[in-house]
Amino acid sequence: MTTLMQESTTNSRERDAAIEEIAARLGVRAQRGRRFAELTSLRVGGAIDWVFAPETEEAAAALAGELEMAGIAWRVLGAGSNVLADDEEHHYVVLSMREVKGTALFEGARVSVSAGYSLPRLCVDAARRGLAGIEGLGGIPGTVGGALWMNAGAFGHEIGNVVETVRVACGGRVVEVRGSEIEWNYRHTSFRDGELVLGVTLRLIPDDSAKIVERMAEVKRQRMETQPHGSRSAGCFFKNPPGSGLSTGRMIDEMGMKGEKRGGASVSPVHANFIVTEGDDARASDAFALAEEIRERIRRERGIELEYEVELWRSNANDAAESTSEEETSGGRKMSGIEEKEEQS
Ligand code: EPU
Repeated sequence: MTTLMQESTTNSRERDAAIEEIAARLGVRAQRGRRFAELTSLRVGGAIDWVFAPETEEAAAALAGELEMAGIAWRVLGAGSNVLADDEEHHYVVLSMREVKGTALFEGARVSVSAGYSLPRLCVDAARRGLAGIEGLGGIPGTVGGALWMNAGAFGHEIGNVVETVRVACGGRVVEVRGSEIEWNYRHTSFRDGELVLGVTLRLIPDDSAKIVERMAEVKRQRMETQPHGSRSAGCFFKNPPGSGLSTGRMIDEMGMKGEKRGGASVSPVHANFIVTEGDDARASDAFALAEEIRERIRRERGIELEYEVELWRSNANDAAESTSEEETSGGRKMSGIEEKEEQS
């Protein structure tokens, strides 16, 4: 395996040839010239060397296996709704799971669905069939895979609570693991570096469809009232301090920071734990500078170390080592194919 820095300076032509060969052999679409600004909901972030877009779980698993064998660094992206990628050039492969969506297969109270399937769509599908347990998640604009990766939660529901089995890539193949073998914590799971989540079987709870639909409407109403919508955000930027009962949004609000602006990034006037971006000139560095200022003030004024809820994706392993050396502050996981120091955040 090579480090990210070595990757960017040496053998890049060889690496590109290997990538093209893998893409052609597996019949997977590989694109150059994409930017995180197009692929993430914050609409900021720099250029990406390669974006792979497999369409099936099997193809995604085979791809991950090939990239691993070739020692090519890769990182998985779903809907990009929980990622702040920096403005520089990212010299690795992004494995986009958005096209691995298939259809949701319902059988009794179970549903089997692929990682790229839209989470809001799944929640609607389930509600229509009279299946409860995920209706609180209906407004999270992510993929099922992203929700599993971070154990997404909202309005009393967490996806980890209803997982029966998860399909992950292992040695180029699709392997099924039991949900009980995975740790499902507050916005964090035990999925590790190099583990690619391909799909899931959820076991939901039969209930009256009309009642579930009603609960979804209520959750939507609450969300519309308390959270920004229609703006470019990555959801809550920080976790609430675990076990404290404190709300980060309320703390930032109480410091008077709503509406605070740094370049094209600002603290949402609706919910202070949302950083929103605006305009073509918005940069990831604006959002990051604002976030770090919030953390600094909360540290100083409340003595609390805020943990990022969004993932901070660094283009450069050395920067990552300097600025966020701690896994726990960033919820970080290492990037596959990149040795230590690089935090996926
Ligand atoms: N509050 C303020 N000012 C604000 C924001 C909130 O005073 O600017 C107050 C609220 O009035 C309320 C309390 O703080 O009394 C808690 O706020 P809220 O109900 O919005 O909950 P939250 O803890 O801020 C959490 C999740 C959200 C999730 C909602 C609803 C985290 C970090 N956030 O927000 O998740 O949608 O509960 O269940 O756990 C996300 O994960 O991206 C996310 C947005």
